[in-house]
Amino acid sequence: MSIISVITAVDEHNAIGKKNRLLWNLPFDMQRFKGATTGHAVVMGRRTFESLPKGALPNRKNIVLTTLPPESFIDVFVCNSMTDALELCEKETEVFMIGGAMVYKAAMEIADKLYLTRVHHVFDDADIFFPEINFDEWDEIENDPHPADEQHIYAYTFHTYVRRLGGHIRQLP
Ligand SMILES: NC(=O)c1ccc[n+]([C@@H]2O[C@H](COP(=O)([O-])OP(=O)(O)OC[C@H]3O[C@@H](n4cnc5c(N)ncnc54)[C@H](OP(=O)(O)O)[C@@H]3O)[C@@H](O)[C@H]2O)c1
Repeated sequence: MSIISVITAVDEHNAIGKKNRLLWNLPFDMQRFKGATTGHAVVMGRRTFESLPKGALPNRKNIVLTTLPPESFIDVFVCNSMTDALELCEKETEVFMIGGAMVYKAAMEIADKLYLTRVHHVFDDADIFFPEINFDEWDEIENDPHPADEQHIYAYTFHTYVRRLGGHIRQLP
């Protein structure tokens, strides 16, 4: 069975986006995302797919969740349920749930691992949020803070968590 991982970047209030875009430009976080997901499967909602500037992410198995007909999408696998998406990933070592909010909500019920970048700022104009996280269910295995610099106007911290043993029932909602 594959490891199911959620990967996200959130502000201090769990904001993840605005008007179907990200709220920040943090190149080192993009690098972390690329490094973690390259060579693996990525599962995303239709709106997140539409927000990608160059379409499907290279060197990854792109899976888009949607209820729309598959003909509307190119260079990606299209699934109309999380169960179907996971079936497509049976042979993968790690599957990354890359957003947005709708996909994160379902994925957090079944994830084994959480890669979370905390952006140390509050974006008052955000319109979409990561679901509330119950940290009692997670053990932190990485905590790597980075100050703001010329390329990163906000400070941020890379966290990685693994599901606490015994706290996990892998059952789709
Ligand atoms: N900060 C981050 O790490 C991060 C990461 C990713 C995205 N984002 C941001 O998040 C926002 C987009 O998130 P969102 O919640 O609005 O949209 P989303 O989750 O990307 O997409 C929602 C759509 O996905 C489809 N979908 C989701 N779950 C499904 C399921 N189980 N079965 C079938 N279809 C399913 C539906 O498409 P249909 O309507 O076509 O049926 C639904 O309307 C953007 O602002 C984006 O920039 C942020």
